[in-house]
Amino acid sequence: MTAPLLQIRNLKKHFDLRLGAFGEKGARVHALDDFTVDIVEGETLSLVGESGCGKSTTGFAILNLHRPSGGSVIYKGTDLAGLDEDAMRPFRRDLQIVFQDPYSTLNPRMTIGEALSEPILFHALASKAELPARLAQLLADVGLSPRFASRYPHELSGGQRQRVAIARALACQPRFIVCDEAISALDVSVQAQILNLLLDLQEKYQLTYLFIAHDLAVVRHISDRVGVMYLGRLAELAPSASLFATPLHPYTRALLSAVPEANPRAPRDRQMLQGEVPSPLSPPSGCRFHSRCPLARETCRSQIPEMRAVAPGHLVACHAVTSATSTNWEASE
Ligand SMILES: Nc1ncnc2c1ncn2[C@@H]1O[C@H](COP(=O)(O)OP(=O)(O)O)[C@@H](O)[C@H]1O
Ligand code: SF4
Ligand SMILES: [Mg+2]
Repeated sequence: MTAPLLQIRNLKKHFDLRLGAFGEKGARVHALDDFTVDIVEGETLSLVGESGCGKSTTGFAILNLHRPSGGSVIYKGTDLAGLDEDAMRPFRRDLQIVFQDPYSTLNPRMTIGEALSEPILFHALASKAELPARLAQLLADVGLSPRFASRYPHELSGGQRQRVAIARALACQPRFIVCDEAISALDVSVQAQILNLLLDLQEKYQLTYLFIAHDLAVVRHISDRVGVMYLGRLAELAPSASLFATPLHPYTRALLSAVPEANPRAPRDRQMLQGEVPSPLSPPSGCRFHSRCPLARETCRSQIPEMRAVAPGHLVACHAVTSATSTNWEASE
């Protein structure tokens, strides 16, 4: 087993809102709690879950772009959580992020060449003389011709802009990239191209990905492991094949029944999600899913279910799941 690239333990991120922002005094958003996982070098770990369940916050907290409220992120023997920006600088190069909207990373007034040169020069990864060759290499890596260097973001298609955003991350010669809904805004045919590009680059440069997405069908094909999040907590974490063949957490099962194409063999007749995700300002006690779970019983309202391994590498946080083959599904109500 390869050593973990990142060891994440009990990572938390709470946002304290200004008085009155939601009409509540000193309201606190529980965006992420007790996120614990080892991210293995070279793997693609995906995070899925409904909008607002804390996926982006997880990516930002791991990279210390949002300073965590608690927990640790061990990278190269150092806990990144809470390092100030100066202390983070030696690690920034290695740890990159690609967003859904490349406009947020690309300055409209900079040519693509200038945008790609910026991180290279900042991290002193090439001299001025070496720069043109490096830019051509980066553009070639993402499937663009060298003439794109003189173009502006608005002259590019959405897919081409996302290729540039990936090239900008690659410019730093990273080891870990958070892809935060990086393909979600693209047309389906372009999504497939960008996914293939990400997979090719992973192999070529031994990259490790945290792939955040809401499209379960996409995640199934590209992930080594998948984590399912609900209201700021991991509900289930498993190798992709196990998760889609044997989803155990009621929330995962509900998510999969809503998207039958994600896995034709997944249970579809068990349960559909009812109601809305509760507010993270006052998440439900015990299991955060209890207000929507058809299997909820008294224990679920008072005790937080811990992540437990029920099969090799398959972890579930649910009082009703006792093993990978023995669940209390029928014990509903
Ligand atoms: N800067 C912020 N200030 C306050 N609340 C935030 C902030 N960023 C995210 N949140 C809240 O944290 C929760 C998780 O958000 P997010 O991580 O963006 O979810 P996802 O990426 O899964 O859609 C949401 O309720 C969101 O409104
Ligand atoms: S712990 Fe209880 S409420 Fe939570 S998912 Fe399991 S059965 Fe449902
Ligand atoms: Mg998000």
